[in-house]
Amino acid sequence: MTRPHKTRARRPHKHRKERAPKIVTAQTSESSSESVLTPEADLSPDPLVVLSRGGVRRLSGGHPWLYPDNISKGTLRDGEVVRLEGPAGVSRGAACFSLGSRIPLRVVSREPDFDESSEWAVMRLDAALERRRHALAQNEEACRVVHAEADGLPGLVIDRYGPVAIFQAGCRWADAVAPLLASHLVEHHGFSGVLARHDGAFRKLEGLPEGVMLLAGEVAGQVRWQHAGLTREVDLWSGQKTGTYLDQRENQLWAADALPVGHCLDAFCNEGGFALHLAAAGSHVEALDSSQPALDRLKKQAEINGLADRVTTRTVNVFEDLRERVSAGEQFDGIVLDPPALAKRKGDLPRALRAYKELNLRAMRLLRPGGRLLSCSCSFHVSRAEFLETLRAAAADARRDVFVQSVRGAAACHPRLLTFPESDYLKAVLVEVL
Ligand SMILES: C[S@@+](CC[C@H](N)C(=O)[O-])C[C@H]1O[C@@H](n2cnc3c(N)ncnc32)[C@H](O)[C@@H]1O
Repeated sequence: MTRPHKTRARRPHKHRKERAPKIVTAQTSESSSESVLTPEADLSPDPLVVLSRGGVRRLSGGHPWLYPDNISKGTLRDGEVVRLEGPAGVSRGAACFSLGSRIPLRVVSREPDFDESSEWAVMRLDAALERRRHALAQNEEACRVVHAEADGLPGLVIDRYGPVAIFQAGCRWADAVAPLLASHLVEHHGFSGVLARHDGAFRKLEGLPEGVMLLAGEVAGQVRWQHAGLTREVDLWSGQKTGTYLDQRENQLWAADALPVGHCLDAFCNEGGFALHLAAAGSHVEALDSSQPALDRLKKQAEINGLADRVTTRTVNVFEDLRERVSAGEQFDGIVLDPPALAKRKGDLPRALRAYKELNLRAMRLLRPGGRLLSCSCSFHVSRAEFLETLRAAAADARRDVFVQSVRGAAACHPRLLTFPESDYLKAVLVEVL
């Protein structure tokens, strides 16, 4: 386990460049998917990055990611915190460095006198927990407790399910600090266990090893938690994401209130957060997903909550299934559309927008007059405006009058940092279709 540096004393700026014996250069191309930075064999004990002028401008704008183009030179250690300087030697804060990442530097502070030798990561974890203590409803048992850069802990997501915490580390620094933070949660915050779910595509993108491992205490296979009157059960070792989609928690309750009670579709349901709450509100719900394990978990939760007679599951490709239902002339009172991120990269955008339009067009055609659609996109690369424009184009093709009722985002435990638009990725648009 590597802690952020503890021992080094601060040195006057004018000596720093002299002490950096070798320099690692950054070549160009922000768009490059591979880092062009390489580690030096003979590393300075005092890791330092000199930013380009463009890098200083980007840093001042508040975005926490710096690319190879933003770096003039530096001495770097993989996974550790480095000090940042501007071209004139002015101290600019600190960032953590990930070798091989398309985002080599993730900023941890823009304060010139930031002390990277302090237990700052532990203090930020404490602060993130404290913020949620005041923000969550009473007895709220599952939520995101750390939302990466938006909670000042670069690349690190921590979700809580009752007494268990699940980590997802998306950069080398987060990997290195995870054991320290996991022990802290168990020793100082009463968590019974901490699991690392390092088994997603997000690890591949960063060139990080994949796997699921226990970081502290004990973690059972399944954990039950209460959500607004329903008993939920997640499979922490193998459910999607950290077990379930906590970002949709509040929208699931909202949908149960805002969609008409009747015959509803939950399309891309995963393990049915929307379907369960719609059923609890009195609707009969057809829940569609391509993942059989997710649907099995939904069926089990429907049984636990006495809702099995109101929830039907179907293992399908939703794109095809909706087309067939339109051809068959089916009609619904309410529909939830929550596909996976269809634009994972910027280059996917045109194709993704066509797919969102097609899905929404089919959903609108499937609604009775007065029916309501909750349409979601978790693609960061699709802006709110683009998503609304896509819904407009779908409404025009469907030849229906469509009224926007409300536009929301992720649950409040996923804070949105204004200078980090990536933290504001989820769109949830409620429309009424006449
Ligand atoms: C964003 S998640 C849905 C989260 C869910 N609505 C919730 O609130 O928990 C997207 C889901 O789409 C499913 N999926 C992906 N591609 C699919 C497809 N072509 N047809 C059906 N389901 C698909 C995934 O298995 C995943 O469960």
